[in-house]
Amino acid sequence: MDGQVIYADLNLTRDTGLEHSSPPSLPQNACQGSSWHKLALQLSCVGMLLLVLTVIGLSVSVMFLRQKSSIERSSVIVQESRNETTARPPLLKCPTNWRPLRDKCLFFCHSSKPWNDSLADCFTKESSLLLIQDQEELRSIQSMIDKGVLFWIGLNFTLSEKNWKWINGSFLNSNILQITGDAKENSCVYISNSQILSENCDAEIKWICQKELKCCQK
Ligand SMILES: *[C@@H]1O[C@H](CO)[C@@H](O)[C@H](O)[C@H]1NC(C)=O
Ligand SMILES: *[C@@H]1O[C@H](CO)[C@@H](O)[C@H](O)[C@H]1NC(C)=O
Ligand SMILES: *[C@@H]1O[C@H](CO)[C@@H](O)[C@H](O)[C@H]1NC(C)=O
Ligand SMILES: *[C@@H]1O[C@H](CO)[C@@H](O)[C@H](O)[C@H]1NC(C)=O
Repeated sequence: MDGQVIYADLNLTRDTGLEHSSPPSLPQNACQGSSWHKLALQLSCVGMLLLVLTVIGLSVSVMFLRQKSSIERSSVIVQESRNETTARPPLLKCPTNWRPLRDKCLFFCHSSKPWNDSLADCFTKESSLLLIQDQEELRSIQSMIDKGVLFWIGLNFTLSEKNWKWINGSFLNSNILQITGDAKENSCVYISNSQILSENCDAEIKWICQKELKCCQK
């Protein structure tokens, strides 16, 4: 009777595909053997039962670990894609009323103020007075300016260093941009649609602010 119950268990394990785990040398009806081997067979049946249980236990834990690692893998993928989105620059889009130009947004202010006030105004707009990198950028900006309209840019004359200096601290490279007019005390720079000119910093002129899209937008 005992033996039959155990035999049913073995059949179950066969059905679940763990067949390979039972020693192949044992005949199928080993657990129903003759009486003089009874004790030995019972012991080996117990042993097999333990073996089967061990195999089931191992398979379950292997399945569990696999599932766990695949969950971990997918959470790493989620993490990676999240990092990707944060690493990518934000959608390059200028605020309302700011005009895009390459990697900048420009704001053309149409009131007129002394240079230092326009500098302060751009600062309150979380931007700076216009910096111009090269001839190409200059021409692009000048093409947006109506004839006869003048705009301060972020360049003035430093008396102590006797040189034109951008508000970011760099000196003007005069091989790239040439300024028409005096280089003297209290001189600031404006642009028209065709020129770069120096003027007394107290003159009241319109101005252009810039935001750099890549670095400054959150
Ligand atoms: C994602 O970024 C976090 C910190 O921002 C970092 O700890 C983590 O290692 C990054 N993951 C990948 C997959 O780059
Ligand atoms: C700009 O300069 C004028 C005169 O030098 C001064 O009255 C004014 O307060 C200055 N503006 C700023 C924002 O510093
Ligand atoms: C400052 O601006 C000028 C004009 O755009 C540029 O040539 C220079 O490289 C800038 N300097 C720094 C330190 O960013
Ligand atoms: C020129 O600009 C610098 C800031 O870049 C400022 O400290 C200085 O007062 C300005 N000079 C004049 C005459 O406005």
